[in-house]
Amino acid sequence: MPRPGAAALDRAKSLLDGALGPSKVVTGEGALAAFAGDESENDPVLPDIAVVAESADDIRAVLRVASETGVPVTPRAAGSGKSGGCIPVGGGIVLATAGMKAIKEIDRNEQIAVVEPGLVLGDLHAAVEAEGLFYPPDANSLSWCALGGNVAENAGGPRAFKYGTTRDYVLGLQVVTMGGEALSIGRRTKKGVTGYDLTALLVGSEGTLAVMTEAVLRLVPKPETVVTLMALFEDVYATSRAVAAMLGARVVPACVELLDRATLDAVRRAGVSVDERASAMLIIEVDGAEVTTELEMERVGGACDAAGALAVLVAQDVAQRDRLWAARRALSPTTRAMAKYKVSEDVVVPRAKIGALLETVDVIRETTGVSMLTYGHAGDGNLHVNFLWNDPAQVADVRVGLDMLFRAVVDCRGTLTGEHGVGLSKASYLPLEQSRAVIDLQKQLKGVFDPKGLLNPGKIFPRVGHGGC
Ligand code: LAC
Ligand code: ZN
Repeated sequence: MPRPGAAALDRAKSLLDGALGPSKVVTGEGALAAFAGDESENDPVLPDIAVVAESADDIRAVLRVASETGVPVTPRAAGSGKSGGCIPVGGGIVLATAGMKAIKEIDRNEQIAVVEPGLVLGDLHAAVEAEGLFYPPDANSLSWCALGGNVAENAGGPRAFKYGTTRDYVLGLQVVTMGGEALSIGRRTKKGVTGYDLTALLVGSEGTLAVMTEAVLRLVPKPETVVTLMALFEDVYATSRAVAAMLGARVVPACVELLDRATLDAVRRAGVSVDERASAMLIIEVDGAEVTTELEMERVGGACDAAGALAVLVAQDVAQRDRLWAARRALSPTTRAMAKYKVSEDVVVPRAKIGALLETVDVIRETTGVSMLTYGHAGDGNLHVNFLWNDPAQVADVRVGLDMLFRAVVDCRGTLTGEHGVGLSKASYLPLEQSRAVIDLQKQLKGVFDPKGLLNPGKIFPRVGHGGC
């Protein structure tokens, strides 16, 4: 992508210094490296300037200067994203919000929390749970990902099966648009249908339309009891039969997480002992009042047995449950360490097509010779299909495999990304799923918010093919 010229950058730098004071304005390659990359496979790109924002006014100033000088600006919270969403591919300014971590309000009666974009998700969980409340979205990077990124990408997580994703919990937003205008959108009440649902549009807009300065989050009562089960299977295909049987038994677990054989091997290597006969595992969690969880636990166990489970084990105490979840939540970094190169997808298929998707993965593995492993949120049909390789020459095979995967997903009426976003990683595949008219309509919306195309450029929309820029 073209980068801004030196004169525009000099002007932006001096305007930012004047508006914010030089201590918030970072330059120099060494210091800028911290604002260059994320947790995706995309290469980091150094910005020219980073601004460490401390307030909504700082964010307003940055977006005003960016508009005035024509310098691109890329918002960033914790940098834990999985699709390159915060990588400043157009250079210019990174607008870093990680320092804005306040919980401004927790209202027990209204069951809402008001938070800033740099707040770490796990810290929000701890704070609301101390009040007997619950914020269900639980991206696996919860120990360090932040609400700004969660809102930008509409983050999911294991509990999305029962509870939904970030969008289902954002009632309202304070945002700043290009030019520096602050807008209050949405509401603080549970119900409300006034005007277009701009909040829903902005959640998941990948930082391309406006920058969040505050979010009003809907909370629910904290479940009284949680039961975690681990079901082991000889055959990965039996897992989708088990999920269907659970739903047939009228149970919607909080989570149903699938781990295939290669993933289980990684878990075993990470020190969790798992029966050697097992080539697939489901981690299932039910929550609610004790009478409900007891009944649901029995039904889930019955569903797994009916699908031919080797064993169904119930976590006996908090320590056992925590060990299991720690291994699950660490799967992304653990599997990343297994090879020199990794691409991790987050495709979604209708639940009934999980078996077909797993067959496709086998075919891709055989056709390309690339190592693959699959894990993810089986209840949602949202699976992380991972390609792992060591020889750079294999990248051509990986591209063939990705193409086969995405075509198969679209053919069975699935979708390319369930929770990580399009970002840079999937932009070139967007036309596989969406028509020219749908992509054009989204670009028109982008133009309304950001007519000069300066806010987080290079994301979502493909450069070539229909919808190409
Ligand atoms: C997970 C992340 C990668 O589910 O989405 O572990
Ligand atoms: Zn996931």
